[in-house]
Amino acid sequence: MISYRNLRVAILGAGSVGSQVADQILRHGDELSSRIGAGLDLVGVAVRDIDAPRDTEIPRELLTTDAESLVRGADVVIELMGGLEPARTLVLSALNSGADVITANKAMLATHGPELFDAAAQVGAQLYYEAAVAGAIPIIRPLRDSLAGDRVTRILGIVNGTTNFILDRMDTVGESLEEALATATALGYAEADPTADIEGYDAAQKAAILASLAFHTRVPLDAVHREGITSVSRDQVVAARKAGYVVKLLAICDRIEGENGGVSARVHPALVPLEHPLAAVHGANNAVFVEAEAAGPLMFYGAGAGGIQTASAVLGDVVSAARRHVVGGPGVAESQHANLPVLPISAVTTRYQITLEVADRAGVLAAIAGVFQDHGVSVETLAQTVIPAGEGHAGDQPAATLVIGTHEASEADLAATVTSLTGNAVVHSVTSVLRVEGL
Ligand code: NDP
Ligand code: HSE
Repeated sequence: MISYRNLRVAILGAGSVGSQVADQILRHGDELSSRIGAGLDLVGVAVRDIDAPRDTEIPRELLTTDAESLVRGADVVIELMGGLEPARTLVLSALNSGADVITANKAMLATHGPELFDAAAQVGAQLYYEAAVAGAIPIIRPLRDSLAGDRVTRILGIVNGTTNFILDRMDTVGESLEEALATATALGYAEADPTADIEGYDAAQKAAILASLAFHTRVPLDAVHREGITSVSRDQVVAARKAGYVVKLLAICDRIEGENGGVSARVHPALVPLEHPLAAVHGANNAVFVEAEAAGPLMFYGAGAGGIQTASAVLGDVVSAARRHVVGGPGVAESQHANLPVLPISAVTTRYQITLEVADRAGVLAAIAGVFQDHGVSVETLAQTVIPAGEGHAGDQPAATLVIGTHEASEADLAATVTSLTGNAVVHSVTSVLRVEGL
């Protein structure tokens, strides 16, 4: 039997994820080696502060602040520092020296992915990133390998645990957004600065990665339409449940067919029917719902974050990369052959639920229906509730709440409809506009 030399593994970062990856390699190295066919030598772990407390015990002699030297001479580099720099420079340096790189860094991939994939392709190195989207959940490899013979048409993902936790608390416990965020912070789900989560930046990075992979097309981060959850109110969540929906922050990647077709990626809060599998994703869990032409609907569910959970995905990549190192052959290349047009949100069609406060008198419904008709938006459902005197925006004037569900309409037509409604004399206020997904 051929024996292969031990592979030199370097880890950049020993925080929540890196400390767990180091621990697994140190404690279960023999078992990982059996799966690979070669030993793994952990040659060093780069950190900022050697004396900082760690979640796991890492021998002091392995810790270094000289990440650049550590990268040189490694066969496999595991980047778990996060952020754009120096992560990007170190990853480029590793790839250029022929090392395979594993990363969980969605910000770096969504921003510098093309440059990094090109560098890997130049030298035949591999760049693995299973942990960059939805933590422990296997979703990158299923999209890249298992579904490689199929045609993915749509992805609906709950890919941010913090916002799912917050929306779930608003729905199931009745907290306001501010209260739910405070709970998420107290329980350690939300960062001290939760902007990336609640404003949808984190989910948008993941959407760019998923859309690029699923549609074999580079989808830049700035082409991802992004709305966070900060404008979602408790009233909207309550009304949604009454109407048979739950509010979720979704990352949606669509293949849009037709003459002006292409692909689109967007992140925004959406109404999801209670019977849809994504509606049952509670707490900080993640789930990715994939629709493919032959396979039909598939759902991938589990922990989207957490040190040890995310380490599982990283170690799967370590074994894959190391196996290829042992057996040889080309690395896993980025697939961008389709090179489809990346379309703006205005090209998307979906359904909408619009809530209005209107005057309650003869002719109002006809006037509202006329606005929808004028913009080519077809109304599917309409429910009216009388607002008790004195509670609406118009004081003692008779008023009513209208909840209007539309058939599929384009974003552009819907936006024009909302603008007209806002300026219409019978409309006191447009209380809520939410997209409906998963029907
Ligand atoms: P942490 O902030 O917990 O850890 C970052 C580590 O990198 C620390 O050990 C830090 O050193 C080290 N580091 C940062 N900058 C430098 C630098 N310039 N030079 C040397 N070392 C540096 O991050 P996480 O473990 O939470 O996340 C790591 C990556 O994994 C990120 O890309 C993140 O997006 C991704 N990820 C994280 C998940 C999670 O649940 N935490 C889930 C999925 C992905 P020191 O300790 O000395 O400060
Ligand atoms: N902040 C992210 C979340 C961590 O809440 O899901 C994983 O990327």
